[in-house]
Amino acid sequence: MNEIIRCMLERRSIRKYKPEQIPDEELNAVLEAGLYAPSAGGRQSPLIVVCQNAETNAALGKINKAAFRGRMSTGNVYVSKDQPSIADDAGIASGFYGAPTVITLFAPGNFLYSEADCCMAAQNIMLAAHSLRIGSCMIARARDTFSSELGRQLMEEWGIGKETEAKFHVVLGYADGVRPSPKPRKEGRIKRVL
Ligand SMILES: Cc1cc2nc3c(=O)[nH]c(=O)nc-3n(C[C@H](O)[C@H](O)[C@H](O)COP(=O)(O)O)c2cc1C
Repeated sequence: MNEIIRCMLERRSIRKYKPEQIPDEELNAVLEAGLYAPSAGGRQSPLIVVCQNAETNAALGKINKAAFRGRMSTGNVYVSKDQPSIADDAGIASGFYGAPTVITLFAPGNFLYSEADCCMAAQNIMLAAHSLRIGSCMIARARDTFSSELGRQLMEEWGIGKETEAKFHVVLGYADGVRPSPKPRKEGRIKRVL
């Protein structure tokens, strides 16, 4: 099968990580893939911020988890049995699942397509990571995470302007355990019309 399509079909969200860090060379290749994602008007709006500081990631991950307002899973409505999310298991300490690399995608707060641009970059990053056998997971609540006191302080420290908003995170690392199988695809999601 075509390599890109294979990666698209195979990639799964990974939430159990080994502590081992990913090599810089591979991280750089993954980040470059993010830079080449489509962007509205070709503006290349996303700023890709990478943090590999375990303490910072643990603190931000805790804030990220605390911002979760979704419903907890029930017996037959769940996110993943093999790679449980914070909706599946309230005991998980961090919204970043202890991944050794945490990417935050920032983009202008006042641009209509900021989120779409960040999602495009996120998908490129996750597929490139998968092609290198690196696990990943897209994480929401980035705005909440960086609206916290620590988040605002880090933005200042990292030189990220206030006109910029955190839109999404993508966490990266090596999967601890086997890659889960996908849920069956819902029927009727493709309609071919005349
Ligand atoms: C916009 C978006 C936000 C997401 N946010 C989270 C999140 O906050 N936490 C999490 O564990 N997974 C998150 N995910 C991952 C989804 O849960 C995951 O893609 C979905 O369950 C399907 O599983 P798969 O990626 O293994 O195919 C998010 C995915 C998307 C597209």
